[in-house]
Amino acid sequence: MIEFPNVAKGVIRNHYDIVTPFYRLFWGPHIHHGYWTADETPDRAQVQLTEKLASTAEIRRDSTVYDIGCGMGGSSVWMARNLGCQVTGVTLSPVQRFYAAWAATCGGVKPAPKFVRADAESIVFPAESADYLWSVECTEHLFDKGAFFRKAATWLKPGGKFALAAWLAGDDPLSEEQTELATRVCKGMFCPSLGSQDDYVRWFEEAGMQVTYTAYWTREVQRTWEICLERVQRSRIRKLAQVLGANHVLFLDHFQAILDAYRTGAMEYGCFVAEKRA
Ligand SMILES: C[S@@+](CC[C@H](N)C(=O)[O-])C[C@H]1O[C@@H](n2cnc3c(N)ncnc32)[C@H](O)[C@@H]1O
Repeated sequence: MIEFPNVAKGVIRNHYDIVTPFYRLFWGPHIHHGYWTADETPDRAQVQLTEKLASTAEIRRDSTVYDIGCGMGGSSVWMARNLGCQVTGVTLSPVQRFYAAWAATCGGVKPAPKFVRADAESIVFPAESADYLWSVECTEHLFDKGAFFRKAATWLKPGGKFALAAWLAGDDPLSEEQTELATRVCKGMFCPSLGSQDDYVRWFEEAGMQVTYTAYWTREVQRTWEICLERVQRSRIRKLAQVLGANHVLFLDHFQAILDAYRTGAMEYGCFVAEKRA
């Protein structure tokens, strides 16, 4: 595991509060990587990542789903619209909660997803109340990932599944250079730690869930950062970030580090499906 404990939760929340409108303008309604199989547009590739995770986890129609770290509600809305799921999205950011609820209402999404502003590390859901947990690119920001998975498992019905995509530390052993690169990504992207694939499998298992699928999607998603780098270079977004604060410049300046980390194996992009033992 790569650790960077100097991150503060308030900084993560502030980052998403400030940059959410820019994610919306410069990337789209999802704050996650695109998944490419050919020359799809970035918008299409973002939806493809959601589709790929939903089909891998075999999310059934009309299920109850908790979307942990829901961003602007992109996945929550997709599952409500396409699968008729009753979705509750949780985000640390009040701006995201507001935007997600507004966009879902304006879009007439049925069944209407609910959005809650809360910390996933302290929120309480009733025991055995969810058919699925869904989390895309949020657990990187959690401080005690093992404790989160143990708690999250209690929310799932027996046989329920957790569908997760996350930025990972590369496979052990990492060289000094790889460790330094992945640590830089943690700093720039406000991640207190990055677990490896083995760490996630262990956290799921210790929480009483059996991992039924795991894979690296690194090659399919890394084009995200080539596109983001090009968009930063072509636009005045860095100047704007300078006005918004040093943390936002730090964030933009780490896009190349992520790309390098993926290309060198310092980081991977991982997908997991885990089932709660009956
Ligand atoms: C990279 S964005 C991913 C958003 C969304 N899952 C998507 O795919 O578009 C990370 C999300 O995790 C959320 N997050 C980070 N730490 C959190 C925490 N402790 N509790 C709840 N949400 C958190 C952020 O607010 C943000 O919505």
